[in-house]
Amino acid sequence: MNVMYRRDKATTSGFDLTPGYVHRDFAEWGLRWAEDMPMEIAPPTDIILMSAKRVVEAGSFETSIWHWGDLLIHNQIPQYDRGMRKRWCVWALRREKDMPERLYTDHPELYDVIHSDWDYDRDVSFITNAFARHGIDCHHILEIGCGTGEHTRRLVAEGFDITGVDKYTGMLSVAREKCDANFRQSALPDLDMNNKYVAIVAIRGVVNHLSPEQLKPALQTLERHLADRGILIFDNSPLPPDGNAPGIDIGTTEQGDYARIAHHASRDDGCLDWNTITFAPSKEIIVNTRTMSPFADNEIYTILSNMDVTVERNNGYGSDSYRTVFVAVT
Ligand SMILES: C[S@@+](CC[C@H](N)C(=O)[O-])C[C@H]1O[C@@H](n2cnc3c(N)ncnc32)[C@H](O)[C@@H]1O
Repeated sequence: MNVMYRRDKATTSGFDLTPGYVHRDFAEWGLRWAEDMPMEIAPPTDIILMSAKRVVEAGSFETSIWHWGDLLIHNQIPQYDRGMRKRWCVWALRREKDMPERLYTDHPELYDVIHSDWDYDRDVSFITNAFARHGIDCHHILEIGCGTGEHTRRLVAEGFDITGVDKYTGMLSVAREKCDANFRQSALPDLDMNNKYVAIVAIRGVVNHLSPEQLKPALQTLERHLADRGILIFDNSPLPPDGNAPGIDIGTTEQGDYARIAHHASRDDGCLDWNTITFAPSKEIIVNTRTMSPFADNEIYTILSNMDVTVERNNGYGSDSYRTVFVAVT
């Protein structure tokens, strides 16, 4: 099959390729939520990979969606005419606005696929070593932002009782299948577990999902849940404060190939829009946006320093982990 990319043809055919066009035309097309979702999109893998590379070259998230539409039309896939392209673009942008956390809410299994290379064992070793280093005698851990339970199941295997908390029931439903722990849906900064814990962990950028205003109350909430002689371990993701260029991650899994375009776009308020399009092994195309907060380590350190804890800063969970890991002990 010829998979040549012919962007110029679409441009000269009179299409207005600006993203604003999509929003203007939404009502005109009479599209409704869900019923108009083009779930039948299932192009072959070679086209997925090629289009993923092309959209990265487009340099921005909005135009990348348009490029994807172009590709569908111009590769002689009969079911993708211009109407379909337009419908898909409209749907994707609309959905992006309405359902910003689709990876967590609708596709937690895809989260596991995308993150299958993550060294969860290393993180868990860091946690147990920190317990030993600080003389913490702990059997029960409160894990905030437990996600799909990859750390949870390893900690359970180490003999700990875990209470796993996450903001999204989608993530928790996958975690529940993996191990026997007590899972609960709740979110920082408003967590109220009505209990105190000797150990609390929040691994892998959980705090970066908070807004700048939520950071201090969230850390205070965690401190309130800590027992005497307790330990709190969490990390600060090394997010690029000024954003970055779109990048691509192409992987092969048991389920098939996936390609993900990710782009941290800077915002006026200092936060980042973390935009992704994932061409999933299921052949579904998943648009996801999320607001993330890049925190300075000193900002976190200052908040912790004003609490009744001693604070340790570590460079990563191991030598190949590029994030600051805070360990606070009461
Ligand atoms: C990058 S994932 C990390 C998940 C898991 N710890 C891991 O390493 O795979 C961040 C997790 O934090 C959760 N999360 C986001 N905001 C949260 C909040 N305000 N309170 C609790 N969990 C939150 C998300 O649902 C997601 O599962």
